[in-house]
Amino acid sequence: MAQDHAALPTKPTAITPTPVRGGIDFQLNGEHYHHTGDPAMPLLWYLRDVLQLDGTKYSGEHGEGGADLVLVNGKATSAIDTPMSKLDGKKITTVEGLVDAKGNLHPLQQAFIDEDAIGCGYCTPGWLIASMDLLNRSKDPSDNDIDTLPNLCRCGCQTRVRQAIKRAAAAMKQGAKA
Ligand code: FES
Repeated sequence: MAQDHAALPTKPTAITPTPVRGGIDFQLNGEHYHHTGDPAMPLLWYLRDVLQLDGTKYSGEHGEGGADLVLVNGKATSAIDTPMSKLDGKKITTVEGLVDAKGNLHPLQQAFIDEDAIGCGYCTPGWLIASMDLLNRSKDPSDNDIDTLPNLCRCGCQTRVRQAIKRAAAAMKQGAKA
Protein backbone atom coordinates (compact mmCIF):
# COMPACT_ATOMS: atom_id res chain seq x y z
CA MET A 1 0.00 0.00 0.00
CA ALA A 2 1.39 3.45 -0.94
CA GLN A 3 2.48 5.70 1.95
CA ASP A 4 1.79 9.44 2.15
CA HIS A 5 5.42 10.71 2.46
CA ALA A 6 4.28 14.34 2.16
CA ALA A 7 2.85 14.11 5.68
CA LEU A 8 6.21 13.19 7.26
CA PRO A 9 8.49 15.95 8.52
CA THR A 10 11.60 16.39 6.40
CA LYS A 11 13.77 17.66 9.31
CA PRO A 12 13.76 16.74 12.94
CA THR A 13 12.08 19.39 15.05
CA ALA A 14 14.57 21.49 17.03
CA ILE A 15 14.27 20.89 20.73
CA THR A 16 15.25 23.64 23.12
CA PRO A 17 15.83 22.23 26.58
CA THR A 18 14.21 24.21 29.38
CA PRO A 19 15.18 23.88 33.04
CA VAL A 20 12.81 21.64 34.96
CA ARG A 21 12.69 24.19 37.76
CA GLY A 22 14.11 27.69 37.76
CA GLY A 23 14.24 28.72 41.36
CA ILE A 24 14.79 32.07 43.04
CA ASP A 25 18.23 33.26 44.15
CA PHE A 26 18.66 35.86 46.83
CA GLN A 27 20.84 36.89 49.74
CA LEU A 28 19.55 36.65 53.27
CA ASN A 29 21.60 38.07 56.13
CA GLY A 30 24.69 37.85 53.92
CA GLU A 31 24.19 34.21 52.83
CA HIS A 32 23.11 32.98 49.40
CA TYR A 33 19.81 31.06 49.19
CA HIS A 34 18.07 29.26 46.33
CA HIS A 35 14.32 28.69 46.68
CA THR A 36 12.78 26.04 44.43
CA GLY A 37 9.46 25.79 46.22
CA ASP A 38 6.20 27.64 45.67
CA PRO A 39 6.98 31.09 44.21
CA ALA A 40 3.76 32.43 45.75
CA MET A 41 4.86 31.55 49.29
CA PRO A 42 5.00 34.70 51.43
CA LEU A 43 8.51 35.52 52.60
CA LEU A 44 7.27 35.41 56.20
CA TRP A 45 6.41 31.70 55.92
CA TYR A 46 9.73 30.99 54.25
CA LEU A 47 11.60 32.69 57.10
CA ARG A 48 9.61 31.15 59.92
CA ASP A 49 8.63 27.71 58.59
CA VAL A 50 11.44 26.81 56.20
CA LEU A 51 14.45 28.51 57.80
CA GLN A 52 13.13 28.56 61.38
CA LEU A 53 14.09 32.25 61.64
CA ASP A 54 11.27 33.33 63.91
CA GLY A 55 12.37 36.85 64.82
CA THR A 56 10.07 38.29 62.16
CA LYS A 57 6.48 38.09 63.39
CA TYR A 58 3.00 37.73 61.93
CA SER A 59 1.43 41.16 62.14
CA GLY A 60 -1.93 41.03 60.38
CA GLU A 61 -3.07 39.80 57.00
CA HIS A 62 -1.17 42.61 55.26
CA GLY A 63 1.38 43.35 57.99
CA GLU A 64 -0.70 46.17 59.47
CA GLY A 65 1.17 46.13 62.81
CA GLY A 66 4.65 46.29 61.25
CA ALA A 67 6.12 43.35 63.19
CA ASP A 68 6.65 41.46 59.91
CA LEU A 69 9.01 44.02 58.42
CA VAL A 70 12.33 43.01 56.90
CA LEU A 71 14.79 45.03 54.84
CA VAL A 72 14.72 44.26 51.11
CA ASN A 73 17.57 46.11 49.41
CA GLY A 74 17.66 48.39 52.47
CA LYS A 75 13.95 49.28 52.44
CA ALA A 76 11.50 48.17 55.13
CA THR A 77 9.16 45.69 53.45
CA SER A 78 6.26 43.56 54.68
CA ALA A 79 7.31 39.90 54.70
CA ILE A 80 3.71 38.68 54.64
CA ASP A 81 2.89 40.81 51.60
CA THR A 82 6.01 39.80 49.65
CA PRO A 83 5.89 36.51 47.72
CA MET A 84 9.14 34.65 47.10
CA SER A 85 8.75 35.36 43.36
CA LYS A 86 9.58 39.04 44.00
CA LEU A 87 12.90 38.31 45.67
CA ASP A 88 15.14 37.08 42.86
CA GLY A 89 18.45 38.95 43.06
CA LYS A 90 17.43 40.86 46.21
CA LYS A 91 19.29 41.38 49.48
CA ILE A 92 17.19 40.70 52.55
CA THR A 93 18.04 41.51 56.16
CA THR A 94 15.95 40.22 59.03
CA VAL A 95 16.29 41.17 62.68
CA GLU A 96 18.64 38.19 63.09
CA GLY A 97 20.98 39.85 60.57
CA LEU A 98 21.43 43.09 62.53
CA VAL A 99 24.23 41.75 64.73
CA ASP A 100 27.71 41.99 63.25
CA ALA A 101 29.94 39.04 62.31
CA LYS A 102 31.31 38.90 65.87
CA GLY A 103 27.82 38.77 67.38
CA ASN A 104 27.87 42.38 68.62
CA LEU A 105 24.48 44.07 68.80
CA HIS A 106 23.72 46.84 66.34
CA PRO A 107 23.62 50.31 68.02
CA LEU A 108 19.85 50.29 67.50
CA GLN A 109 19.44 47.03 69.39
CA GLN A 110 21.65 48.36 72.18
CA ALA A 111 19.66 51.59 72.32
CA PHE A 112 16.36 49.69 72.66
CA ILE A 113 17.86 47.85 75.64
CA ASP A 114 19.36 50.99 77.17
CA GLU A 115 16.10 52.92 76.84
CA ASP A 116 14.04 49.96 78.11
CA ALA A 117 11.97 50.22 74.93
CA ILE A 118 10.97 46.55 74.96
CA GLY A 119 7.84 45.30 76.69
CA CYS A 120 6.71 41.82 75.64
CA GLY A 121 9.05 42.15 72.65
CA TYR A 122 6.58 41.02 69.97
CA CYS A 123 6.75 44.30 68.06
CA THR A 124 10.47 44.91 68.63
CA PRO A 125 11.90 43.22 65.49
CA GLY A 126 9.59 45.30 63.33
CA TRP A 127 10.55 48.53 65.12
CA LEU A 128 14.23 47.72 64.66
CA ILE A 129 13.83 47.08 60.94
CA ALA A 130 11.67 50.18 60.37
CA SER A 131 14.19 52.23 62.37
CA MET A 132 17.06 50.92 60.26
CA ASP A 133 15.23 52.07 57.15
CA LEU A 134 14.54 55.45 58.75
CA LEU A 135 18.16 55.93 59.85
CA ASN A 136 19.33 55.03 56.34
CA ARG A 137 17.25 57.97 55.11
CA SER A 138 17.73 60.40 57.97
CA LYS A 139 20.75 60.58 60.28
CA ASP A 140 18.92 62.80 62.76
CA PRO A 141 15.22 61.82 62.73
CA SER A 142 12.66 64.07 64.42
CA ASP A 143 9.70 62.90 66.50
CA ASN A 144 7.54 63.48 63.43
CA ASP A 145 9.82 61.29 61.31
CA ILE A 146 9.62 58.54 63.90
CA ASP A 147 5.85 58.88 64.16
CA THR A 148 5.55 58.10 60.43
CA LEU A 149 6.76 54.54 61.06
CA PRO A 150 3.93 52.04 60.59
CA ASN A 151 4.67 50.02 63.71
CA LEU A 152 2.22 49.44 66.53
CA CYS A 153 3.02 48.50 70.11
CA ARG A 154 0.34 47.08 72.39
CA CYS A 155 2.59 47.47 75.42
CA GLY A 156 2.71 51.26 75.04
CA CYS A 157 6.45 51.55 74.39
CA GLN A 158 6.19 54.22 71.69
CA THR A 159 7.70 57.02 73.77
CA ARG A 160 10.68 54.91 74.78
CA VAL A 161 11.05 53.68 71.20
CA ARG A 162 11.37 57.32 70.10
CA GLN A 163 14.11 57.85 72.67
CA ALA A 164 15.85 54.65 71.59
CA ILE A 165 15.88 55.65 67.92
CA LYS A 166 17.31 59.07 68.78
CA ARG A 167 19.90 57.48 71.05
CA ALA A 168 20.91 55.09 68.25
CA ALA A 169 21.11 57.96 65.77
CA ALA A 170 23.50 59.81 68.10
CA ALA A 171 25.58 56.66 68.69
CA MET A 172 25.80 55.97 64.96
CA LYS A 173 26.88 59.55 64.24
CA GLN A 174 29.51 59.24 66.95
CA GLY A 175 30.62 55.89 65.53
CA ALA A 176 30.91 57.35 62.05
CA LYS A 177 33.22 60.11 63.41
CA ALA A 178 35.44 57.66 65.33
S1 FES B 1 6.59 45.52 73.40
FE1 FES B 1 4.77 44.32 73.46
S2 FES B 1 3.72 44.86 71.62
FE2 FES B 1 5.38 46.22 71.73
